[in-house]
Amino acid sequence: MEQLRHEHGWNPEDLKSLLAPERVHLGKASRRDHASDETEDLVFVPDAVVEPMSTAEVSRVLAYAHDHNVPVTAAGARTGLSGGALPVQGGILLSTRRMNRIVAIDTLNHQAVVEPGVITEELSNAAAAHGLMYAVDPASRGTCTIGGNLAENSGGPRAVKYGVTKDWVLNLEVVLADGTVMQTGANTLKNSTGYNLTQLMVGSEGTLGIVTQATLKLLPLPTHQALMLVPFKSAKDACAAVADLFQAGAVPSALEFMERDAVLLAQDFTDVHEPVLQPDDEAHLLIEVDAFAQDDLMPQCERMLPVLEMHNAGEVLFAESAAEKEKLWFLRRRVGEAVKAESVYKEEDTVVPRGELPALLEAVKALGKVHGFRSICYGHAGDGNLHVNILKDGMDDNAWEAMMKVAIRDLFTRVVELGGTLSGEHGIGLVQKDFMDVACSDRALDVMKGIKALLDPKGILNPGKIFPS
Ligand code: LAC
Ligand code: ZN
Repeated sequence: MEQLRHEHGWNPEDLKSLLAPERVHLGKASRRDHASDETEDLVFVPDAVVEPMSTAEVSRVLAYAHDHNVPVTAAGARTGLSGGALPVQGGILLSTRRMNRIVAIDTLNHQAVVEPGVITEELSNAAAAHGLMYAVDPASRGTCTIGGNLAENSGGPRAVKYGVTKDWVLNLEVVLADGTVMQTGANTLKNSTGYNLTQLMVGSEGTLGIVTQATLKLLPLPTHQALMLVPFKSAKDACAAVADLFQAGAVPSALEFMERDAVLLAQDFTDVHEPVLQPDDEAHLLIEVDAFAQDDLMPQCERMLPVLEMHNAGEVLFAESAAEKEKLWFLRRRVGEAVKAESVYKEEDTVVPRGELPALLEAVKALGKVHGFRSICYGHAGDGNLHVNILKDGMDDNAWEAMMKVAIRDLFTRVVELGGTLSGEHGIGLVQKDFMDVACSDRALDVMKGIKALLDPKGILNPGKIFPS
């Protein structure tokens, strides 16, 4: 799918006077390279790609775009799953790739100062070298960037204990639509000074400003982990165990759910064929606990075992060695890619209060029967965040398109009835925006639009996202 080209009354060549010409790409091949992300098969080719290396350069690009009414879409590693970084109206694709410095690991204050193009795992590793943790760990952490994580408020398996991106942000340097540079807060752990502009920016998908520097909170790095893989004959039992584990006082550092097909596809995709599933294993929970001493792990696991047993769990596999743990996490992190390789599909990022997880799974399967689709579910069960993958399989294109519109609306309607919402960690972006009315009242949407109009009166920042068309 390629968009109709828009004429914006500007000359892309002008950009070469705003930053080094070798970091302005106008050729078809470079523009095409920045036309997609990891969201299905969407392609939107920008008119120009720029790679600023400083806040001043971002500011100059935005001031120019503002003067000339040119859309600007910021993009990091383009691993997003909601089309947030797609330049759907053409214009300038502002790549943060070269703003990738870890400016400081402040061990005195347990803070990191980073540019948006830093790869998330590189920050985690840099913090770990000082015995500190940057805890946000999206499945794509080896490739995704902090800027993208901020834009979409990304989570990951450890969010169940440590929270999502928003929980780690103290302060942001942001370039606003007209090129003004603004600090949203202060580099302090506490801040009750006016509106929380920092949190307003987090999750705003590049529609309110472009982050050029972030001050993030670090924690002491836990030194020990235990990992259990728990099989269930009934996926519903696995889901029902989740809330009860917390009721029993468990504090897992990850609590993931995987349906049988999710594990099997990931095994095929990665060629890692362990563990061998029993023929009637319908789902697994992958449960991690962490601590600062080996002796603190077992009591945490023991607290969970009776609850798992009560929910008819099979034999628990304890990953003994670091290599075994790594293998299980490797499989889990590849599920998304594996499903993508299996069929044309649509991935939803539904989230409900965790006690409603069994009802959500039941609703997905019931809708599959009504609409005739196959689904593969997995995700962050401890957060009530279920990734629902709906597969096209053999369905013809028209039937698929028509079915999806209705089926997804039905799914989101049920999610909201259960007290949940559309996206837990992938964002609304392009592909969820037409369902915003299911979760947000007209008044709430008007407030959001008012904020957008105040900060970006010309609508140049990542147009065509979040708001229903
Ligand atoms: C995951 C991504 C898809 O949890 O969010 O694997
Ligand atoms: Zn996820």
